[in-house]
Amino acid sequence: MQATLTALVTKAQTDLAALKTRPEFEAAKARLVGPNGELTALMKQMGTVPKEERPAMGKLINETKTRLQEFLDAALGTIEAAELQAQLGPAIDPTLPSPDAGPGTYHPLTLVREEMCRILRKVGFTVADGPEVETEYYCFDALNTPADHPARDTQDSFFFPPVARFGNVSKKTPGEKYLLRTHTSSVQIRTMLKGEPPIRIVSPGRTYRRDTTDATHSANFHQLECLYVDKNVTVRDLKALLDYIFGSLLGKATKTRFRPHYFSYTEPSFEVDLSAMHLPKVKKEWIEIGGCGMVDPSVFAGVGYDPEVWSGYAFGMGLERLAMLLYGIDDIRYFYQNDLRFLKQFA
Ligand code: DAH
Repeated sequence: MQATLTALVTKAQTDLAALKTRPEFEAAKARLVGPNGELTALMKQMGTVPKEERPAMGKLINETKTRLQEFLDAALGTIEAAELQAQLGPAIDPTLPSPDAGPGTYHPLTLVREEMCRILRKVGFTVADGPEVETEYYCFDALNTPADHPARDTQDSFFFPPVARFGNVSKKTPGEKYLLRTHTSSVQIRTMLKGEPPIRIVSPGRTYRRDTTDATHSANFHQLECLYVDKNVTVRDLKALLDYIFGSLLGKATKTRFRPHYFSYTEPSFEVDLSAMHLPKVKKEWIEIGGCGMVDPSVFAGVGYDPEVWSGYAFGMGLERLAMLLYGIDDIRYFYQNDLRFLKQFA
């Protein structure tokens, strides 16, 4: 029996070391130590061993059991390591240069943003930046949008919990709530509070609203805002600028028209439409592109400008909408999916 046990250990050692898969392992384990396994069969023969040899034999069997368990553990360890390696794939060296050496391309929204800024720089506008996390004051109050206005509703906006702190976003009053800006118009206020007119700024950037995503809506989108403050600014100046920028971006044939509207920070206020018959894939007579108007005197008063002296216009528009018109894109979701087949078309 002693010889059988030694042979069992030797054979198990070689067999187990050669195992590659879990099913092989389970089968080998059952064959060795399972209820019908070889070791169990040998243990059952203890009854036939003479009484005086039994303690020594029992010890030998226990040792054999321990050795077999060690080999089983080692075999399972090797199989698990191989499984992990297969999941991780071949080893990579992250310090090597990327195998894809192709040049990147600009995102269509970046292209439109940069083109609009270029067009506006030509006529004296400078680019102004503002925070995406805003406070109620800059996003609403200072823009003459009172506390009970629906635009402030939590349905429309992403408010931060009162404990949130953003050290780099200044508040007007301590009790003000932070939110993700719902439009770029807040940059008008931050810019006016920084200095005296004349002011001529363009401010493109990311904006957020609680919208359900579909082909034309996204909770995160981009706008471009313009503000001009000087003496004797009129609606004619506003119309002339809009004609100039859309003519430059979409071709000389592009006309603009105003429809009376209400925005609390401009008076009068308009919605702006573009003639779009000449745009391939759009072919509509008019398409809405943004909002605008003459800066409301109460907004000037709020930032300490004398409304009797200063006048100005402001407008804001969605960059996605512009890019969709320019490139004939029919679904806003393409902008955010990072699908190279889409993005490479704008190289
Ligand atoms: N902030 C408006 C919006 O998000 C757009 C807008 C309207 C901007 C009129 C303006 C403006 O500057 O004067 O819908």
